[in-house]
Amino acid sequence: MAIYPGSFDPLTNGHLSIIQRGLQMFDGLVVAVAVNPNKTALFSVAERKQFIREAVMDPRVEVDDFEGLLVHYAKKRNVFVILRGLRAVSDFDFEFQMANMNRQLAPEIETVFMMTGEDYFYISSQLVREVARFGGNVKSMVPANVFAKLQSLFPKLRGGKE
Ligand code: PNS
Repeated sequence: MAIYPGSFDPLTNGHLSIIQRGLQMFDGLVVAVAVNPNKTALFSVAERKQFIREAVMDPRVEVDDFEGLLVHYAKKRNVFVILRGLRAVSDFDFEFQMANMNRQLAPEIETVFMMTGEDYFYISSQLVREVARFGGNVKSMVPANVFAKLQSLFPKLRGGKE
């Protein structure tokens, strides 16, 4: 088993690709949405979990949320592998820092990185939110359920006026 943690605000096709590829390596995945009270999110934790559940629909995938340290959550769940996707070099610094901090905190937990597929390396939740807000077409970057919700939130994405 592995935990695939993240903000998932919202789920993108890049995340979905990591989940699908992760399932080829692990028997099951816990996709864990981080609850961060200091970060203003576009979608609630419940909405983010719902997007993942609807888009994945695989019995090997459990969708959960956690608050506090990831390593505490992993230990509580008895899962000792953390799965993360790596996009461009720009991801590396922070991911390297996090993986090492997590190892310092809990040496028994290993972080495994998967290189994001070439079709997805430019996609991030943050850019999807921004592009959608200003009416750019993000249809090919997110699952259909997320796109429908973004359309309902941002009139410019529907082709209308704000
Ligand atoms: O999708 P993101 O925003 O890149 O995910 C980052 C996440 C949620 C994995 C990271 O911020 C995290 O693990 N948060 C939980 C708090 C924690 O354990 N912080 C110390 C990490 S070194």
